[in-house]
Amino acid sequence: MKIREFAVERWMDLYEHHCELNLAETCVESLTVGELLRIAGKEDAILAEMLPMKLTYGAIDGTERLRTNVAALYDRQQPSNVLITHGAISANALVYETLVEPGDHVVSVLPTYQQHYSIPQSYGAQVDILQLREENGFLPDLDELRRTVTARTRLIALNNPNNPTGSLMDQPFLEEIVRIARACGAYVLCDEVYRGADQHGSGFTASIADLYEKGISTGSMSKTWSLAGLRVGWLAAPLELVARVRTRRDYNTISVGMLNDLLASLALENRTALLARNHDILRTNLALLDAWIAQEPAASYVKPKSGTTALVRFDVDMNSRDLCVALIGQTGVMFVPGSAFDIEGYVRIGFANNRQVLEKGLTRVSGFLKEHAAH
Ligand SMILES: Cc1ncc(COP(=O)(O)O)c(C=O)c1O
Repeated sequence: MKIREFAVERWMDLYEHHCELNLAETCVESLTVGELLRIAGKEDAILAEMLPMKLTYGAIDGTERLRTNVAALYDRQQPSNVLITHGAISANALVYETLVEPGDHVVSVLPTYQQHYSIPQSYGAQVDILQLREENGFLPDLDELRRTVTARTRLIALNNPNNPTGSLMDQPFLEEIVRIARACGAYVLCDEVYRGADQHGSGFTASIADLYEKGISTGSMSKTWSLAGLRVGWLAAPLELVARVRTRRDYNTISVGMLNDLLASLALENRTALLARNHDILRTNLALLDAWIAQEPAASYVKPKSGTTALVRFDVDMNSRDLCVALIGQTGVMFVPGSAFDIEGYVRIGFANNRQVLEKGLTRVSGFLKEHAAH
């Protein structure tokens, strides 16, 4: 089984440790261990909890404590519906491994995280792409989805909030998708790794796992919670599916690290304080980006409603990769080219990282655009 290179990961690997100003990052500015413990009020107490821990494999599915904390992020999930994985990347991969067989029909939105179409393609599935278009605010066209699904459709892959566009499907929109999926019997896998990062309100939009009896939500500590270094993710899904995924997972995971499981619980048990920090970063930084776009004649975008990234159009006579390579070379600013998401004409900007880096980077990009703008 052949698989394509994972373009965004290759791009990040090439440049992220060699650029001066990283505006390609998708995590809300990551926390140090010290910052996490301070937020949790555990700076002094943590060792008492850790020292007696015997470093064995720990709870195979993830501790009851962590699965309870994760289940609390949903309206209708129990700890038994939750399986802890090595990041959302592993949760997604396990779902495809469990559900998709050669000849199956899979529908995936695009742009999205490449896993969602390249893995099922590698398994010999027929993958139809549901293109997210700027004129629809980068939301799926539901009539197109209705026309695309058949009785053979095994799974519909969504990403809400969406990476890279920052578009957000609200509950009524998701309910429409559920009606379409139910009519053909398909599972819906919704990659919700940016859930909690909305620009308004509590930050949390409805989860597919709470709306659909064949809905699978994947998530993690990486983006909304600023703790990618823990490599802790999960899926929340119907019990029958959890059991089937567990069978696959036993062959490639055993358990996540015990210390990571503990620190993830600490974070989720202090979610109010952590979200206050992160919503401030997300909302203040997007306002900065928005003001920059408004005064930059060579840039335009659909303003994200959630997530940590925006897809921006630049009025330059270069393809997205050449543009990003030139930007890194001439300004030290790193974006991600649309080509890494199989689209052209855009670059992805991550706006939720360090605020000073964002401001400095955008100022430099303005200088670059003065020289290179097509009009
Ligand atoms: C949409 C999406 N899903 C999944 C992942 C993987 O995240 P992790 O494995 O860190 O949870 C990413 C990371 O960029 C992502 O953007």
